[in-house]
Formats: sequence, C-alpha cells, structure tokens
Amino acid sequence: MSTHADSKPWTVPALADAKRNGQKLVMLTAYDAGFARAFDANGVDLILIGDSLGMVVQGHDSTLPVTVADMVYHTRAVSRVLQRALLVADLPFGADATPERALEASLQLLQAGAEMVKIEGAGFKLDIIRHLVEREIPVCSHLGLTPQSVLRLGGYRVQGRGDAAQQLVDDAKAVVAAGASLLVLECVPSPVAARVTAAVSAPTIGIGAGPDCDGQVLVLHDFLGLDSGHRRPKFVKDFLAEGGSVAGAVQAYADAVRAGTFPDAEHAYAS
Ligand code: KIV
Repeated sequence: MSTHADSKPWTVPALADAKRNGQKLVMLTAYDAGFARAFDANGVDLILIGDSLGMVVQGHDSTLPVTVADMVYHTRAVSRVLQRALLVADLPFGADATPERALEASLQLLQAGAEMVKIEGAGFKLDIIRHLVEREIPVCSHLGLTPQSVLRLGGYRVQGRGDAAQQLVDDAKAVVAAGASLLVLECVPSPVAARVTAAVSAPTIGIGAGPDCDGQVLVLHDFLGLDSGHRRPKFVKDFLAEGGSVAGAVQAYADAVRAGTFPDAEHAYAS
C-alpha cells in the first residue's frame, strides 16, 4: 500500500488519497507556535485551530464567545511554523450565519495561513459549504455533537443514537455532496460513525466516534491530561502520561491512531 510520505506536505487532494489507501490520519488541535512546531515535527498530519480555544485557552464555558479576530490571531501564530501538517481553522459561532459572512471570515482565515475552514452542522450550512467551495475555499464539515449548538442541545451529549443515526448518515452524504473534503464526527456511537465512514468518499476524523473513522483528533489540553475545568468526556486519553514528553506523547498517539488501537472500547461509545 502506498502512503503519504513522512516528509511531504499534506494537501487537500492527498487526504482523499489517504482514505482510499487506508492510511489513518492523525490530527490534534493547537493554538500557538510552540505546540504546533512540536506536533508538525513529530508526524501529526493535520492541525486544527479549534474554537475550543474559547474554553481551553480563554476560560469560557462554551465556544460561543470566540470571534473571527481570535481565530485569525491563533491561525497566524500556528501557520508560521508548519512544514508538513495541513492547517484547518474553525469558523466561529455566527461567522457562518450567511454565505457573505462565511466568505469574509474564511478569506481572513486563509490569508492568515489556514488551508481549510471547518463548519459545524448541515441544513442551511449546505449552501454555505457550496458557496465557499465554489470560491476555492476547502471545507471540513463537523457533525454529531456540534458544540456551537450547545444552547439548543442543552448540553454536550452523544448524538446519532436510535432514529437519529440515519439522519446523521444522510447529513454526512449531503455535506460531502456539497463539497466538504473532510468530516469531523464528534461524540457519535462507534457503529454509527462506521456507517458514516463507509458512506462517504471524504475522510472522517473521529473524536469520541470510535476506531472505524479514517482518522482521529483530540483537543491539545485533553491529550496532555490537563484539567480543563469541565467534565472530562469518556473519549479523552492522557497521552503525556504514556509518552513521558510532548514528543513522546505525540508519537504514542500517532502510533495508536495508525495502528487502530486508539480509541479502544474504554474511550468510545458502543451505542
Ligand atoms: O474546536 C475544536 O477543538 C473542535 C474539536 C473538538 C474537533 O472542533
């Protein structure tokens, strides 16, 4: 099986090749140059500037207060040091409320060094995804638990259970048909994430979505075992404890993702 070379920078088309070749993708969030450099140097394939920064960096209770300016600031810091990893940045809450706002925010993020923007949800977001992709802006979709929906959902809970599973599969097909090149699945039962992964050509990246996704992502602070001040989700694993150093933690995480041993049953939702 041919796989993406360790020394070669990732590109958007290479992500689909990786899925076709069965090569698992290793993703972590980063918000500053120091961690981004360490992740890039130790073989992380994709770095996400997540709007999780609102909670883990800024200390808010949700991601809702994060602004486009915040995202641009962190995207600039991270993008300066990357040699190989592909850089994805979140469109924060409200920045994708209309096609015009989404385009303006995405242009700012791409000009700051992002190579793809991430958008939560399906529904009216399908038009937004199409609007951006038609204008040469690569899009990562985010389905399952979408933290920007916290007020409507009333909390952070597993999604896609029971009858909602088919809706999730349909939404995944729709976002990929609209042009999404990558799909994050958050807090979804493993069998449902496996169905989604089999149904779409774009790689799926799981966080609390079981071992059958095409790749995995963790939030930096969770990956390092830091207390975020919030309830610790079941899927979180402290890789610093296992690896002994930041470089060792990245290697332990990357090895486990590529071998398909993370997440195991303890770090996934069976149903
Ligand atoms: O904001 C973020 O860090 C994310 C991850 C949870 C995937 O969206």
